[in-house]
Amino acid sequence: MFARFEKIREWFERYVGAFDLSVPMIQMKYTHSRDVMKVGETLTRALEWPSDAAEVGVSACLLHDTGRFSQYRDFGTYYDGASVDHGERGFEVLLSDFPSEAADAEAREVLLQAVRWHNKKNLPKLTPEVMPFCRLVRDADKLDVFYLVRRRMDEGTVGDLLPRHKIDAPLSETLLHEVEEHWSGTYKNASSLLDFTLIQLTWALDINFTPSLQMLEDSGMLTRMRSQFPKEPRIQALLERLFVRVADHKRALVSRNEQPAFGRASTAPSV
Ligand SMILES: [Fe+2]
Repeated sequence: MFARFEKIREWFERYVGAFDLSVPMIQMKYTHSRDVMKVGETLTRALEWPSDAAEVGVSACLLHDTGRFSQYRDFGTYYDGASVDHGERGFEVLLSDFPSEAADAEAREVLLQAVRWHNKKNLPKLTPEVMPFCRLVRDADKLDVFYLVRRRMDEGTVGDLLPRHKIDAPLSETLLHEVEEHWSGTYKNASSLLDFTLIQLTWALDINFTPSLQMLEDSGMLTRMRSQFPKEPRIQALLERLFVRVADHKRALVSRNEQPAFGRASTAPSV
């Protein structure tokens, strides 16, 4: 499997360059794409992925939000529920525009699937060749959104980042109930900033690799977000249980210590 990262990057820059980058919301996704790519570089190093696989993984991270640009141009929103599924939109763009010389067939399939599934609530059953890359992109994407929210909180501009979510509104009862029952939340039940924060906290349970969860914990975001909730017993009890689950999840990841199928082939791990 191989992907030529530089060719993919050139294609991506050309593709994005056709959109109006002076629009702050479009510029934001361009920056996010490159930041997720950088998180992907950090993660593939921490995971000691072979260089060929790392190049495919980092490329997938860069491309993951390809669908966002035409989504915003066509609908003026990033809310998939009111427009299109941006993972599917990105998949379609790559199907028709991705340069064939930039990756072999196997890597192309990985890139297509990683883009398609990066935003779904749950990953379906995928082949062992594709799965690690989908997991990598989902972790890198989540981590960068945590970093982005932290930056915006520090700047006092988090409301601009999440225009659909009311800043001082309380938690939605529907979302609270959903998280209590399922340990995950859907955006259609989220209307306040606290709702979004609660959904984000549940992302920690959907992190796929130990270094990703470690980076998330080291960022201090989980405890910072937790401190923003009201001291009501029901909410505090939920958060307590959620953090116990995160600790359990981390132990499970450490003991799983997944070795992706590609690492056992011909290429030695890079050190
Ligand atoms: Fe996305």
